[in-house]
Amino acid sequence: MTIEHPASLPVRLGGLDLANRFAVAPMTRVSAAPDGTPTAEMADYYAAYAEGGFGLVITEGTYTDTVYSQGYLNQPGIASDVHAGAWRAVTERVHAAGSRAVLQLMHAGALSQGNRHRDDTAGPSEVPPLGEKMPEYGGHGPWPTPRAMTQDDIDVAVRGFADSAVRALDAGFDGVEVHGANGYLLDQFLTAYTNTRDDSYGGPVANRVRLAAEVVAAIRAEVGPEFCVGVRLSQTKVNDFVYRWPGGAYDARIIFTALAEAGATYLHIASEGRDWIETARLDGDTTITGLARLATGLPVIANGGMHELSQAAQVLRDGHADLVSIGRGALANSDLPRRVTGDRPLEAFDHMMLQPMATLANAAQWRQASARVAV
Ligand SMILES: Cc1cc2nc3c(=O)[nH]c(=O)nc-3n(C[C@H](O)[C@H](O)[C@H](O)COP(=O)(O)O)c2cc1C
Repeated sequence: MTIEHPASLPVRLGGLDLANRFAVAPMTRVSAAPDGTPTAEMADYYAAYAEGGFGLVITEGTYTDTVYSQGYLNQPGIASDVHAGAWRAVTERVHAAGSRAVLQLMHAGALSQGNRHRDDTAGPSEVPPLGEKMPEYGGHGPWPTPRAMTQDDIDVAVRGFADSAVRALDAGFDGVEVHGANGYLLDQFLTAYTNTRDDSYGGPVANRVRLAAEVVAAIRAEVGPEFCVGVRLSQTKVNDFVYRWPGGAYDARIIFTALAEAGATYLHIASEGRDWIETARLDGDTTITGLARLATGLPVIANGGMHELSQAAQVLRDGHADLVSIGRGALANSDLPRRVTGDRPLEAFDHMMLQPMATLANAAQWRQASARVAV
């Protein structure tokens, strides 16, 4: 007799009934048309996860306006009705396979390395970002120093998120996820060293989380009480794997509560560049994901190395989270949930599938080459 993995059990996420607790983590694939329109290849890619048994498919970070939000060339957008119309092919395919689709809404802020609408970047403050642009998303060299956003810039960004959420709803998505993680715009406001503002968006953590909370509230006001509006958060960033919220659990409570009060349906805690076990641990046995559940009563998705199935089981059994999201493990196993229920082993993730860029075309080539080697 095989023992059922706890992630294989159904769960409710706000008003959504999910077949299981396996979610595909959002993953940028820089494979949209140059104008940000999703392609048929992308519909096949997302359908494969739904057909492979994932209860929830969260899309890659998708830009929200035609000003400063775009982060990479060939990133998909949800900034126009043309974008939204093309996303419908994705939602229809995901639904046809019995899964649910959530669109990740992303504003890159200072970490934009390719924006067809602007040559400069905008962020909370004129602070040069750490690190360098990411080659796998088509960038190289140091980041430019962003222009500090005015109140007008902030209002435009908030409106971009809210209007994009409405377009996502119209495109058939079951929800949106606000990208507040990994060092992008909302995380730049949340992070002490990238936000040196002296207005109501800077200073104490309650001010630094204000923009993310305003985005959630603006979306909620547009989409009504039922639509799923998640928020993704992380301490670490694509360009900083060591940052931790300065006030630890104290900051975490303020952040989680502000987002819940603004109308979030779920919280998704990422751990960019690190494992959950490393970034989630707070004092004693407390974890950030567990604290998010306790502080808000909302469902929480844990991320970071959850293709280690024993870790995923422990996270769910010990009440640290309600769902697990899987990134690299899903790239290597689009049918990961079916493998788990069928007690079949998982393929190991090979970073070469994202080289020289993380496009769907490169992954397909890598697959063909490895099939040839395997023969
Ligand atoms: C190719 C790739 C692209 C990613 N793009 C995004 C993204 O668009 N939005 C996001 O929030 N996280 C993104 N991430 C981070 C993943 O969602 C996830 O947090 C990370 O891979 C750790 O989870 P894992 O251990 O299951 O891979 C990306 C990761 C990879 C590997």
